[in-house]
Amino acid sequence: MGTKPNAGAGIDELAEPPGVDQSVGVEDGPGVEIIAREEFSDATFLLEFRHPLMAKAARPGQFVIVIPHEHGERIPLTIADFNRDRGTVTLVIQAVGKTTKEMQLACRAGSRIFSVVGPMGEPSHIGKGGKVVCIGGGLGVAPVFPQARAFKENGAYVIGVIGFRTKELVFWEDKFRQVCDEFIICSDDGSVGIKGRVTDGITLALEKHGDIGEVVAIGPPIMMKACAEATRPAGVKTTVSLNPIMVDGTGMCGGCRVKVGETIKFACVDGPEFDGHQVDFDDLMNRLKRFAEEEKLAAERWSETCRAGVGSGGAVPR
Ligand SMILES: Cc1cc2nc3c(=O)[nH]c(=O)nc-3n(C[C@H](O)[C@H](O)[C@H](O)COP(=O)(O)OP(=O)(O)OC[C@H]3O[C@@H](n4cnc5c(N)ncnc54)[C@H](O)[C@@H]3O)c2cc1C
Ligand code: FES
Repeated sequence: MGTKPNAGAGIDELAEPPGVDQSVGVEDGPGVEIIAREEFSDATFLLEFRHPLMAKAARPGQFVIVIPHEHGERIPLTIADFNRDRGTVTLVIQAVGKTTKEMQLACRAGSRIFSVVGPMGEPSHIGKGGKVVCIGGGLGVAPVFPQARAFKENGAYVIGVIGFRTKELVFWEDKFRQVCDEFIICSDDGSVGIKGRVTDGITLALEKHGDIGEVVAIGPPIMMKACAEATRPAGVKTTVSLNPIMVDGTGMCGGCRVKVGETIKFACVDGPEFDGHQVDFDDLMNRLKRFAEEEKLAAERWSETCRAGVGSGGAVPR
């Protein structure tokens, strides 16, 4: 299901016959309409867009591929929330490079995103009942939220652990508290919650509860690696969501290959969630650095054109 014909994956029950315009939810012009934007920090912001069929099809753990404007590049972003009654999908974006900075500048409530394709990837497996720890580090707080909510809806006892560098960066604490039976917030500098990393939160939870069935950890690769190591001695199942570089998002380009145990997987179609005890995080982190030079150049060129007033801000409808 996408905003452009023949683009992307949907789910079977909503599959449309060939030739049908898939631009559901698009009222005027190409793309989807942004209906809300919220700032979380200087770099992090939320966009909510209207797309009733995508909202109906979305499951926790899935992502979309966004092309912000006609000449933009494709980037994967996790579905951080969806509201089937309102027919809306929410993304939380951190401006780290050219495309995400373009979006930070140009995507406003009332403007449109040129193309959004999804939901893509395998949905999270949400078991029934049991005791689960849902961990979000920094931006990872957003993608782990739909899972925490789904576990709660399925009768699990949910322990939420979220961590940020400092108090000013905290977002969605209220949303988390609403779906968690226990809640731990950590900060690197101690300005909010316990002073420490999310791994300290895991240690607290494991010490208190001997019957934790699963840990779900989403955040920077180094954090997910540390979480997997924290749970390995106790043998607690640990699921992580990987963020390798993606291009097509449909299993064809090979850009998102990751090593999981003895096998090579494509995160876009086999994941993005995998067994954290099996993932080769060092390989993932090395592969993420592959285009560092090109990414730096692209961001520099873009900021120069912005300063000259001819940047993408003009290309993306405001
Ligand atoms: C499944 C998945 C879900 C994601 N969800 C979110 C999310 O919800 N919010 C969010 O802010 N970011 C998310 N990301 C990361 C996001 O896609 C990248 O930050 C974005 O592509 C960077 O593009 P850029 O041009 O702004 O920066 P660039 O300068 O191109 O890159 C900055 C950093 O992002 C990484 N990156 C670059 N291109 C890609 C790409 N095509 N795919 C993945 N990583 C890339 C690079 O390794 C680099 O470290 C997700 C990535 C994946 C794979
Ligand atoms: S993004 Fe191309 S194979 Fe996964």
